[in-house]
Amino acid sequence: MEIKTVNLTRIFHVGCSKVVAVNNVNLEIGESKFIAIIGPSGSGKTTLLNLIGLNDKPTSGKIFINGEDTSNWTNAKRRKVRLSRMGFIFQTFNLLPTLTALENVELPIALAEKSQREQREKAIKLLEAVGLGHRTHHRPKELSMGEMQRVAIARALANNPEMIIADEPTGELDSKTAKEIMKLLLDMKEKWKTTVIIATHDEKIVEAADEVYNLKDGQLITNF
Ligand SMILES: Nc1ncnc2c1ncn2[C@@H]1O[C@H](COP(=O)(O)OP(=O)(O)OP(=O)(O)O)[C@@H](O)[C@H]1O
Ligand SMILES: [Mg+2]
Repeated sequence: MEIKTVNLTRIFHVGCSKVVAVNNVNLEIGESKFIAIIGPSGSGKTTLLNLIGLNDKPTSGKIFINGEDTSNWTNAKRRKVRLSRMGFIFQTFNLLPTLTALENVELPIALAEKSQREQREKAIKLLEAVGLGHRTHHRPKELSMGEMQRVAIARALANNPEMIIADEPTGELDSKTAKEIMKLLLDMKEKWKTTVIIATHDEKIVEAADEVYNLKDGQLITNF
């Protein structure tokens, strides 16, 4: 999936103060790229990911997906693209606690209206791909942090997304587990040709990235 933003801006109003969380950001991300977005806390990384992931709407500026201007898309179209073409990974995994690893991974497949058999087979394959074939019936609290993040990655991959958006996916993990998770994400990029966009403070991810975007006070300061 190719992403292009043009003068992308998101302003929040809190009481009578105004926060320009994303300020005039222009970026172009090609297909099958591993992209790191870095910057200090409060610099706008999550806000930018929410915009690119069609989870939020810009105050001004535009987002193009594969050349298509998304500004006039209906909410239904935005939801459909999110569900069927994008995958999301969060710092705290966001797994549903009452569901097993398998059921968590099945969920987005079910939402895409695949048959039960298809969804089960697919979910098992994905859990095997992230090295968790032996943990399918565990619930999140019965898994380690690294395992939980693997389940979240399997879930993010459930509908063969063209893009994965990850917000500090290794933030809660020790450095060894973080490295494994990063390797897994890199593998996914190679295997599925998925574009991976990661907001991170993790040096290892920054080193491995094809491109790094650096945010400060909502603005892109370097692009190398
Ligand atoms: N919903 C909101 N309402 C008001 N202000 C917000 C909202 N979301 C974010 N902000 C503000 O926008 C700025 C950017 O926040 P954002 O969460 O994007 O930063 P971040 O780079 O992801 O930080 P961190 O590394 O701590 O996750 C911050 O000043 C934050 O307080
Ligand atoms: Mg954030």
